[in-house]
Amino acid sequence: MNSRKVIAIDGYASTGKSTLAKMLSRHYHLTFIDSGALYRGVTFFALEKGFLKDNELHQKAFRDALEGLDLRLEPAGDLYLNGENISQKIRHPRVSDDVSTIAALPFVRKFLLHQQRQMALENGIVMDGRDIGTVVFPNADHKFFFTARPEVRAQRRYEELKAQGQETTLEEVLNNLLHRDQTDSSRDVAPLRKADDAIEIDTSELTTDQLFTHLVEKIDAK
Ligand code: CDP
Repeated sequence: MNSRKVIAIDGYASTGKSTLAKMLSRHYHLTFIDSGALYRGVTFFALEKGFLKDNELHQKAFRDALEGLDLRLEPAGDLYLNGENISQKIRHPRVSDDVSTIAALPFVRKFLLHQQRQMALENGIVMDGRDIGTVVFPNADHKFFFTARPEVRAQRRYEELKAQGQETTLEEVLNNLLHRDQTDSSRDVAPLRKADDAIEIDTSELTTDQLFTHLVEKIDAK
């Protein structure tokens, strides 16, 4: 495969996008970019600095502060905010609760859109998110859209969080996923939706290896 190829994987929360994007990036020697990590990083920043507090957003101050923000995603997947590794902290339920609110802000999307496009200039990429095939890279070489049953997604995410030692319940996880799906699908700017030319896949009954084989077949056949 040409090393400047772009593969876009969009879909609902916790459908396996990042896991598969990572596997494909290794297979095709492309850079993996988890765009959700960037939205989580900006949300963590808003919470840490108190721009988002008690459900109230200090929009002007937050917007101004974004200009000086140094958010870096390392090739290995670690996320740095002004020099601090925040890869674990962005997975915290506190961030998951507010990320969709922050991701709906047009100035946040504009800020990250620029960063995401810059990342594809040097090397081919596999990027996963919500609007990669529709807005970020509408001309991507390959586009996939993942869905899965909510109970399956909640169980997977619950086990991931438990393994990381996070305190949460299956019900809380399910509610968060459904809330994010709803907010992400209904926002005005770059809502979550399948691109017309994306291949839709329900991942509920597939193992990661089965899904990987299926995606590679589709990509190599094109
Ligand atoms: O939990 P999961 O891995 O499925 O989500 P994520 O990829 O970490 O994304 C977290 C949140 O960031 C989403 O629920 C969206 O609100 C937002 N996001 C977005 O708006 N656009 C993207 N391209 C990626 C993420």
